[in-house]
Formats: sequence, C-alpha cells, structure tokens
Amino acid sequence: MRHIKLFKPFVSWYAVWNTVKVLRSGQLAEGPRVKEFEEKFAKRFNLQNVLAVNSGTAALELAYELAGIGEGDEVITPILTCTATNIPLVHRGATIVFADIDRDLNINVEDVKRKITPRTKAIVFVHFGGNNRGLKELLEIAREKKIVLIEDAAQAVASPFWGKANFTCMSLQAIKTLTAGDGGVLACKDPTLYEKGKRLRWFGYDREKKQKFGDTDLVEAGYKYHMNDVSAAIGLGNLEVFDRILAHHQKLMNAYEEGGITAHPWFATVLSDKRDALKEYLKQHGIDAGMHHYRNDQYTIFGGRKKFPVMDELENKYLLLPLHKGVSVADVKRICRLAKEFNDK
Ligand SMILES: Cc1ncc(COP(=O)(O)O)c(C=O)c1O
Repeated sequence: MRHIKLFKPFVSWYAVWNTVKVLRSGQLAEGPRVKEFEEKFAKRFNLQNVLAVNSGTAALELAYELAGIGEGDEVITPILTCTATNIPLVHRGATIVFADIDRDLNINVEDVKRKITPRTKAIVFVHFGGNNRGLKELLEIAREKKIVLIEDAAQAVASPFWGKANFTCMSLQAIKTLTAGDGGVLACKDPTLYEKGKRLRWFGYDREKKQKFGDTDLVEAGYKYHMNDVSAAIGLGNLEVFDRILAHHQKLMNAYEEGGITAHPWFATVLSDKRDALKEYLKQHGIDAGMHHYRNDQYTIFGGRKKFPVMDELENKYLLLPLHKGVSVADVKRICRLAKEFNDK
C-alpha cells in the first residue's frame, strides 16, 4: 500500500547540484550564495529589506528584538500555532496574551480587538497552513492603533498576501514548501531596522564594512543567526522550480476543495467529531494525518490552560491532511473519498 506522509521535504535536482558545487568550493559559511539567495527571494516574492537567517525561529527572534519587545510588553498571539512563534517571547520576558482562533484555525480578529490595551506592543499574525484570512483586517487595526504587526509566515511561502506587516518571518525548514534544509527569511518594512537586523544576525558586526572580531568595538549585542552558503544553495535550487511547486500545490488545493475539504497552501484541514477515529481510518489506508500543532496554553512555559471558546470546542476536532509534492491529485481524490466514506458510516 502506498504510504502518504503528512509532510515530506522536496529537494529539486538544481538544489542537489548547487549544494555539491558549494560543498566542493571551499566556501561553506555565509558568502556569495546567501547574497544571491536574498536577492532572488526578494525579487520572486516582491519583498524589500530581506535578511536570510538560519531558521524561521531566528527570523522571529530578530523581529521581536527589532520591534523592541521587552520585559512586560504585551504581545497578542494566536493560541494555536507552532511553539516557535511564542517561545522567543518567553525569553524576552514579554507578557503573552493569547487570542482565540476562528473555525478556520486562524486567529480570531474580534478576540484580538478585545485584548488590545495601552500596553500592547505587538500583534503576531500566523498564516496557519498558509491561510492569510484575518491579515488584512489586522494590518488596518495595527496601523490605526500604532501597534507593531509581525507576520509569522513560516508556513506561508506559497501564500499571496505576505510582506505587508512591519516584519514578515518565513521558514525554510525541511518540510516547508520552499526548503533550504533549515533556514529562514526576515523582511523588514523599515530600512533602518533592516540595517540593524543585518548587524544583529552576525553578533553586532557590520560585515559589509568588513568588520571583524577584534578590529572594532561592539556596541550592539547580536546573535549568530546568519544563513550559510550550503543552505542558500539548497534554497536557490528549490527557488528555481518554485513556480512548479506552487502550481502543484494549487492543483491539490483545488482537488481538496472539489472534494469538500478546506485546503490551504501548506495543508488541508477537516473538522470531525470523530477526529481520532478518522485519523486511524486514514492511517489504515496508508495516509498520515495529524494535528502537528497544539494549543499553546497546554504548555507550562506559557502559563497553563485558560478558556478559549473556539479552541476549547475544536481542540479534539481538527485534523491536518497532506498537501505537498509527494501527493498527487489522485491521492487527494482518494483522501476526500475516504473521509466521506468514514463520515457516512
Ligand atoms: C508557525 C511557525 N512559526 C515558526 C516556525 C519556526 O520555523 P523554523 O522551524 O524554521 O525555526 C514554524 C516551523 O515549523 C512554524 O510553523
């Protein structure tokens, strides 16, 4: 029986060849391939002030730092997301204010509005599965209230709406639509903060001025967040075929929608009262489905469980279904048929 994984890395032959060349070049650390990746990525996605970093988490860490989020600042963020969205806020001593979700699993904008206070420093919008619903409204609210908006677009490299917030953070981790093995991208609206970000991703040194350890004073305490040329080579090779990846994802999305299942650019979702049994039924037919991300208030580091009406209702109902290059349209039709068969039983 064919086994369909929930997520599967896709690496193009261009990426394989690029990587071999870099591995034999003697230049593995950050070098010309990173610069080339930044330029091509920015052009392909129509973004400005793009910084390649070594993970989506690093992009978020840097965005939070550049936004000036510190001790006691309130940050409104969705209850359902990858913990990577919120762990960096714990490190900064920020007060995490969780907002509930809507039935599409994205943040509930009405709940965000209710939770804004004079101490709200930032709002984090997560494109859950690449779903951009709610972003437009939050952009307007953030602009009007002069609150920093940070887009966690880690799952959204195939989504059309990103890059409009103060900071947009993307992930190029192994199973993402565009992978660099591991990696991330931060796009900054403000060019001055972009310049600062460029220094902070390399300990605080200005590499363009060829500043080196010992040569110069350090006035900002930075991080080691830069991308290296090996990751950039993988990213560049996959970028080469990105339009084809995107077209494939679009076909799968259409097939899911035709089969009555909601699909986003990175996965499809179903809500079922018999979620665990459905998951098991699909597994018996060789199809992996899962939750992948869980409500964040279940983790002690985020302060323990509270009441969130929609999250409370859906936490045992949502299930993510596979949507990637290893899945065909025929597979999606089969998944939809199996899900229907299961529901009709
Ligand atoms: C919503 C979200 N934010 C942040 C991240 C972190 O990205 P990375 O794994 O590249 O650090 C992920 C990764 O899965 C994610 O899904």
